[in-house]
Amino acid sequence: MAKLIIEGGRPLKGQISLQGAKNAALPILAASVLVPEPVRITNCPRLTDVENMAGILKALGCRVEWTEDGLLIDTGSAKSAQLPEALSASIRSSLFLLGPLLGRFGAAEAPYPGGCDIGNRPVDLHLKGLRAMGVRVDEASGRIRCLGRPKGGVEIALEYPSVGATENLIMAACGAAEDTILVNPAREPEIDDLMAFLNGAGFDLRREGSSRIRIRGGRQGHGTLHAVMPDRIEAGTYMVAAAITGGHLLLRGGRREHLSALITALREAGCRIRSEGTDLDIEGPERPRELRRLVTLPYPGFPTDMQSQVFALCTLARGTSVLEENVFEDRFRHGAELRRMGADCLIRGRAAVIRGVKSLHGATVTAHDLRGGAALALAGLRAEGITVVERAERIDRGYANFEANLRDVGAAIRREDS
Ligand code: EPZ
Repeated sequence: MAKLIIEGGRPLKGQISLQGAKNAALPILAASVLVPEPVRITNCPRLTDVENMAGILKALGCRVEWTEDGLLIDTGSAKSAQLPEALSASIRSSLFLLGPLLGRFGAAEAPYPGGCDIGNRPVDLHLKGLRAMGVRVDEASGRIRCLGRPKGGVEIALEYPSVGATENLIMAACGAAEDTILVNPAREPEIDDLMAFLNGAGFDLRREGSSRIRIRGGRQGHGTLHAVMPDRIEAGTYMVAAAITGGHLLLRGGRREHLSALITALREAGCRIRSEGTDLDIEGPERPRELRRLVTLPYPGFPTDMQSQVFALCTLARGTSVLEENVFEDRFRHGAELRRMGADCLIRGRAAVIRGVKSLHGATVTAHDLRGGAALALAGLRAEGITVVERAERIDRGYANFEANLRDVGAAIRREDS
């Protein structure tokens, strides 16, 4: 296990280059199973979740190698459609392999997936969509067993714009003989990056307006080179680091258009934000203003993956903020940890009421999930004294070089592995 030791009170100043997006890289690695020739994925972040996904691909018989600029994946030798128990149960994105395995082999078997502890995380939308494609899905044995090549010629309406279900069904549909239409798909930019990878590999997918995706049938994948999009949640996390410390950061390699809802919220909190090309320049206020009401929603609404970090910022605001978490049912566990640092917050179901305090004090706190852990580290950057964030390995799931990046811009932060 790992812990981060942080001495607060230093405004961050300097530049950070952003990594490739975790939540684009993971489905793209899964989608490589659809392509029986080598693919190269550049700007791929070196994260534990990505390493685990690479391990799953190797267990399926694929060749996966890190090169100096990313990953080389050759699934030509893939022979098994049965996902390994331990690795698959550790990450949510192992679920994304059902679609490509069915598209390639007409069979797939997986344990129920793991992932951050932020709610029930059911898989009903994934399985309902696969069944609508004519796939036989059996859950009796506590594992998910799928049989049959996905049939096209169907229109599938998602009850909820689930990111993972959209990705899974897109990949399954790539193996169908006829066209498939997804109605009410997720609109997150990571979906468009997955589609760009698949289109570069010879498939044919396109959005038809904001509420439909058409996946042409009868296509065969071929080798390709794809650069993963920048990580908008990593960018947002460092933006909040500047905001909470009253610092000034220049983030390189971002996409401003992916961060509109967050930029609006941080400006309301008193940050000065400018963007030029792929650079994002942010200056934090001496003390943030409260966010009267912030609601997380599917994209382009405010991203649930930034809720914890903004929650930490609001604990130091001049007034009272109200945050509503509408995407996951249990994503406020960082609230109790922040209270140990002196925060004044009340959680009631999907709502958090946060009365800003003048200062936080260091404490020993626990990262219960990836983004909650990052939020605790951000609070520690401002808190008076020393903060110890335990279970910091959970932060490694989504951030490459987290403490090194923060140290490079002036944070007093170090890691202890035990
Ligand atoms: C993806 O998770 C991301 N993970 C999450 O990022 C992100 O928070 C989430 O999308 C929302 O943007 C990856 O891409 C690897 P969903 P996913 O399916 O696909 C319910 C991070 O910190 N639902 O859009 O699991 C579900 O319970 C992680 O980087 C069903 O009810 O998200 C949730 O309430 C955390 N049935 C809501 O939909 C289903 O079959 C959104 O889930 C599937 C989902």
